[in-house]
Amino acid sequence: MQEFRRSVYCGQIDKLFLNKEIFLAGWVDNIRDHGGLIFIDLRDRTGIMQLVINPEKNNELAEKAKTIRAEFVISVRGKVINRTKENINENLKTGKFELNVLDLSIVSKSKPLPYQLDDADNVDDELRLKYRYLDLRREKMQKMLKIRCDAVFAVREYLIKKEFYEIETPILSKSTPEGARDFLVPSRLQHGEFYALPQSPQIYKQLLMASGVDKYFQIAKCFRDEDFRANRQPEFSQIDLEMSFVQETDVQDICEGVLNSVWEKIFNKTLKLPLPRLSYDEVFFKFGTDKPDMRFGLEINDFTNLFESTKLKFLKSVIDNGGKVGAICVPNKNFSRSDLDKWVKFATDRLKAKGLLWIGFAEDGSALSSIAKFLPTNFFLEARKIITSLTPADTIFLVADKYESAWRVLGRLRNEFAKKFDLISDNEFNMCWVTDFPLLEWDDEQKRYFAKHHPFTAPQHGWENLDPSKIKARAYDIVCNGEELGGGSIRIHDKKTQIKIFELLGISTKEAKEKFGFLLQAHEFGFPPHGGIALGLDRLIMLITKANSIRDVIAFPKMQSGICPMINTPSVVSSKQLKDLHLKII
Ligand code: AMO
Repeated sequence: MQEFRRSVYCGQIDKLFLNKEIFLAGWVDNIRDHGGLIFIDLRDRTGIMQLVINPEKNNELAEKAKTIRAEFVISVRGKVINRTKENINENLKTGKFELNVLDLSIVSKSKPLPYQLDDADNVDDELRLKYRYLDLRREKMQKMLKIRCDAVFAVREYLIKKEFYEIETPILSKSTPEGARDFLVPSRLQHGEFYALPQSPQIYKQLLMASGVDKYFQIAKCFRDEDFRANRQPEFSQIDLEMSFVQETDVQDICEGVLNSVWEKIFNKTLKLPLPRLSYDEVFFKFGTDKPDMRFGLEINDFTNLFESTKLKFLKSVIDNGGKVGAICVPNKNFSRSDLDKWVKFATDRLKAKGLLWIGFAEDGSALSSIAKFLPTNFFLEARKIITSLTPADTIFLVADKYESAWRVLGRLRNEFAKKFDLISDNEFNMCWVTDFPLLEWDDEQKRYFAKHHPFTAPQHGWENLDPSKIKARAYDIVCNGEELGGGSIRIHDKKTQIKIFELLGISTKEAKEKFGFLLQAHEFGFPPHGGIALGLDRLIMLITKANSIRDVIAFPKMQSGICPMINTPSVVSSKQLKDLHLKII
């Protein structure tokens, strides 16, 4: 027999193949010698097909089969037959059939694997990533790769139908200000100079608008040398798009269309559109974050008024200094004293809260709390004016601090409560737009403003007369289940505004010219109004496949430490290479 002929994939065999002779090739998932008969589960990316070899009919073949081990690559010729009734496996797509093997060849042998593929979820991450090609053999990973491919295909199909051009932009590029450190590439030809890998194609896509492209998209690779946080990778992919002559809602509509096309392709379902649009202020007030998980309640409430004349010194001084008291009510949950102590410790140690107060109630509504004696007797009734659903079975948790700090702690506490008390439904995709972001964010350490999105984001009308902290941006994020799925904005398209915004960011005209001179110059040659968005492709696939991390949906991801244990990157280079690049390691 020819060494590796294949006429069909394992998972595609159905009744149309019955009694036909076919060729299969793949990996041995397992082999069972039942004395009389030898069974092999042959696996390829589509599934498993059972092979059967009868030593009585062909002893030579059986002897060869006996040398086969798991993960050998084999190729077989055989006839598709029905399994006997008692051998039918309803859990397998091809479980009604088996292949009566007529010929078999061993294409490639395998040593015992460093870990059992069916136990991969319990294996140390480093080992799994060291042998990522084995990890990817698993059915779950093959499914993920297929879903990712299907999703990208749906995106391309949708956007091209909507008259977008797919355009690639350079990887050897210049620093783009997306808030992370750059990965640098030394130039051999330009002594002492460096390229930066793009943190996103932001500037190129804006320049494509200046080129008259009008509608651009790209499945773009982005590189950010940032400290590792959950669901971030140093290199990741975006569905990146930009459009000319648009308002916020035009970009949002297209983005919703993109997501809907993915949902149709993957789930055969449409999304409920348009998605809700909520302002940053509203979202932060209710959820203490700009990426709210709205699959559950536990909204934050403002209790400052209830403590305006409190005798509690700590609360009083927070309020007198313009701070606020925020509250989360956990309904109908019995907290023991030690549970409460644990939550207080969690808030102070892990969330860096200045404190966490709790208030429970007796059946008659009187407060049970370490601060009970400082509370007015009608506290329950007053609290119920704010939380109308309040009952004595509920527990209220309070944090007092500057508004942003207190609300951030409460936002994280809210997520922890939800996880702990199992309030999150796994089968829901809860998406919304968050709009009207502040343009700038004050950095207390560096004593300067940073762009909340990036420095090319257009400010909202009337911004010139406002205190910088009050300026709102024409920016929007799309959030799903508490993850930021994407972010975008309408951009600045005139030089004067751009320079003024650079000034607010502490970027001098000289520095602006050095860094973004080409963009400012383009502003002088007829620049259309434009806006766009980028969706995190890895995060999207993570949500769709319900993976635990974006690492599980990237074929070859990096570890937390930025290394890839499979090919051992980063790695040292020869002194010759360093010399060519005019570099010295110190
Ligand atoms: P932004 O920086 O918000 O915007 O990125 C857009 C989306 O990309 C994803 N993302 C990441 N995914 C994995 N690992 C990372 N390190 C990482 N960083 C970001 C997130 C995020 O929402 N140029 C702008 C877009 C624009 O304005 O059009 C940009 O890159 O899902």
